[in-house]
Amino acid sequence: MLDKKVAELLNQQINKEFYSAYLYLDFANFYQSKGLDGFANWYQIQAQEEKDHAMLFYQYLHNNNGTVTLESIDKPDKQFTNLCDPLKAGLEHEEYVTSLIHNLYAAANEVKDFRTMQFLDWFVKEQGEEETNANNLITRFELFGNDPKGLYMLDSELKARVYTAPSLVL
Ligand code: FEO
Repeated sequence: MLDKKVAELLNQQINKEFYSAYLYLDFANFYQSKGLDGFANWYQIQAQEEKDHAMLFYQYLHNNNGTVTLESIDKPDKQFTNLCDPLKAGLEHEEYVTSLIHNLYAAANEVKDFRTMQFLDWFVKEQGEEETNANNLITRFELFGNDPKGLYMLDSELKARVYTAPSLVL
């Protein structure tokens, strides 16, 4: 039986992950409108991964006799004035998601819910990778993105990203 607060936070995380998917789809939308299909591809795949994250929380709750309540998803409302803005917003967002996962981990730890802590271990590691990827994108954009040829090459590189299903299976 899941603790009430832990169950609530797990349910909220479904919404947060779907919001992340929606946010990254909005980033893809921005880049597509600028003719940068590689950046758009990167964020479309990112959006798919976020949907996977949401479904892992959904399935974990069901597997543990929890109740899933789907709430409305906020409208992505970031405003972008230059091509690097979504990359910076992406890093900021991942740092926020890391704080949510850590908060959830702390709540599970408080009630000695070792099963949820073990489930969350994958997300703790994943958040480290998400932040590294977001940081790397900013660094590479700052190095190459302000030169048209460099931007073209970066866009071509990001076009090569392919979707892979999450390594965590429930
Ligand atoms: Fe679901 Fe980007 O973390």
